[in-house]
Amino acid sequence: MSPALKALVAQIAGWIAAFALARSGVLPAGPWTLVATQALGAAAAAAALRSAHWWLPIHLAFTPLAIAARTLNLAPGWYLAAFCILLFIYWTSFRTQVPLYLSNRPTADALAGLLPERPASMLDIGAGTGSLLRRLAALRPDCRFRGVELAPGPWLAGRLLLAGRTQVEWRRADLFSEPWADYDLVYAFLSPVPMAAVWQKAVAEMRAGSLLVSNTFGIPGHEPDLVVEVADRRATRLLAWRIPPRHAPK
Ligand SMILES: C[S@@+](CC[C@H](N)C(=O)[O-])C[C@H]1O[C@@H](n2cnc3c(N)ncnc32)[C@H](O)[C@@H]1O
Repeated sequence: MSPALKALVAQIAGWIAAFALARSGVLPAGPWTLVATQALGAAAAAAALRSAHWWLPIHLAFTPLAIAARTLNLAPGWYLAAFCILLFIYWTSFRTQVPLYLSNRPTADALAGLLPERPASMLDIGAGTGSLLRRLAALRPDCRFRGVELAPGPWLAGRLLLAGRTQVEWRRADLFSEPWADYDLVYAFLSPVPMAAVWQKAVAEMRAGSLLVSNTFGIPGHEPDLVVEVADRRATRLLAWRIPPRHAPK
């Protein structure tokens, strides 16, 4: 079951539990008792469905906050506006399970050190606002860069940020629908969820000897050939795999 579906099922289970207890007379009367029971029931259901642990506080807070927000008497348009802004920024994160967060400057500098000394090419898969490519383009004017980003908000920000940078190609596309064959380095800062699929595509398409670099997230069953420890506050690790020849054992 996808995390979004689990969340929906957990919320519904919480309401069923709360109404069943209320009807049986076990619960003291009052709307907040019902709400608190629903929240506890939803969190328990999420735990039973093995949702990631950070879903539990979300389930505990969701209905109480939704009910409390009604007391603010905000016009419904504000909720719609907030939803549209979040959709613009995060788009299909509920499906890809890759939210937006950005590589910092020390990471960009360390990544520049992994590019070949000769003029080279690099692809950022899930390129966010293009801030990483902007820094790299300044550090390596001899190189060619391409960024693919799916969410419209970050893509638009990147379009503006990279305007006039002719060495950076900026595309709105799904990273899995783009060819990866033409690059010396493919960079991923995603989440644990797509990493197995990223590896499959990398070994199927990337040139032997080119580098797949992942910020933070490993690939199940594949130790990196190189690890770069970045001297930043979040102790970023760049994990790099040298792509083997097509028919070598993986
Ligand atoms: C953690 S951010 C990394 C941004 C940038 N690469 C950086 O390091 O600063 C991941 C980005 O990948 C995008 N993304 C997630 N799944 C994607 C997909 N299937 N195709 C293209 N972009 C995707 C998200 O919208 C998000 O902006």
